[in-house]
Amino acid sequence: MEGMFKPGAFKGKTIVITGGGTGLGKSMGKYLLELGANLVITSRKQEVLEKTAAELQLQTGGQVLAVACDVRKYEEIEKVLRETESRFGQIHGVVNNAAGNFISPTERLSHRAFDIVVDIVLKGTYYMTLAAGKHWIAKKQPGTFLNIVTTYAWTGSGYVVPSACSKAGVLALTRSLAVEWAKYKIRSNAIAPGPFPTDGAWSRLLPGDLVKKFDPAARIPLKRVGDHQELANLAAYLLSDYSAYINGEVVTIDGGEWLRNGGEFSHLEEIPSEMWDVLEKTRGKGA
Ligand code: HXC
Ligand code: NAP
Repeated sequence: MEGMFKPGAFKGKTIVITGGGTGLGKSMGKYLLELGANLVITSRKQEVLEKTAAELQLQTGGQVLAVACDVRKYEEIEKVLRETESRFGQIHGVVNNAAGNFISPTERLSHRAFDIVVDIVLKGTYYMTLAAGKHWIAKKQPGTFLNIVTTYAWTGSGYVVPSACSKAGVLALTRSLAVEWAKYKIRSNAIAPGPFPTDGAWSRLLPGDLVKKFDPAARIPLKRVGDHQELANLAAYLLSDYSAYINGEVVTIDGGEWLRNGGEFSHLEEIPSEMWDVLEKTRGKGA
């Protein structure tokens, strides 16, 4: 649960995090500030961003620029990039972290409800990627994208179908541009977190009593949810030059959750050891 980098590892680097005012974006931003980075946080709510910026600056002594930006609006993204450049100079990394999500049977969704999630997650990510990529290419600057997806980007998942479609698209974008833009020294990677408690995710994915009924930790081989610092360590690594040869990768950080739930016999952990003793004694003695 501790930071793994040397202090100052991000000195002189500027990182933009969408959805950086809350939750995992805020935790990743805090750690990058502790490592000496200049941080730019964006989301729709200026007052949330300013509160977070003041709190993080006080805690870390770092520099935070808070710019309101709806990732569905390309011109607002361009404004973030312009303001970042004029405040800090070069941009070194972009974390596409902003998201919208909620649980619902798909047949109950209106087409507007489907749109809202796809527009934030998929369109928002490709808008930011296109704008930052064009910026880096025009300036002949290297850059690193880090896209926050989730494991159902490749398994799919019922009840969060707009999010699953969008995260799958973000993963395809990550892998495609890792190849196409490598010639510009632009790397693209992704992180697929399992459950990490945040107000934003928990209130929308485990509303009301669902959190008691479906304890996320119970589904995980390590029997716990993630700690924000564990994610922040991985994000810092993938944004840093220590991972300079990693490109087009998605790193899962879920305590083994998705593999366990796909494994044909993983549920046999419910068998107590006394029953294994009985099974062992009866082994080879007929059906
Ligand atoms: C069904 C819903 C709904 C719900 C909204 N809608 N919530 N439909 N079930 N729970 C419908 C509305 O009825 C409307 O359609 C349309 O969606 C737009 O809704 P608005 O409330 O007007 O949208 P808006 O105010 O812009 O809010 C966007 C939002 C909201 C996505 C609905 O939840 C939000 O702001 N989220 C941002 C943060 C977030 O979601 N964080 C969690 C990320 S967690 P109609 O037809 O009525 O007009 C995550 C974890 C992944 O991604 C993996 C976990 C392991
Ligand atoms: P969160 O706190 O709700 O973060 C989502 C952020 O996105 C908010 O800061 C929100 O701010 C911003 N946002 C939403 N719509 C936006 C828009 N149109 N333009 C710009 N910003 C927008 O939830 P979180 O749990 O930290 O999620 C962060 C990321 O981790 C997401 O990509 C999520 O899918 C991923 N993830 C989370 C978990 C988990 O267990 N927590 C697991 C897997 C993946 P505003 O409302 O101010 O715009």
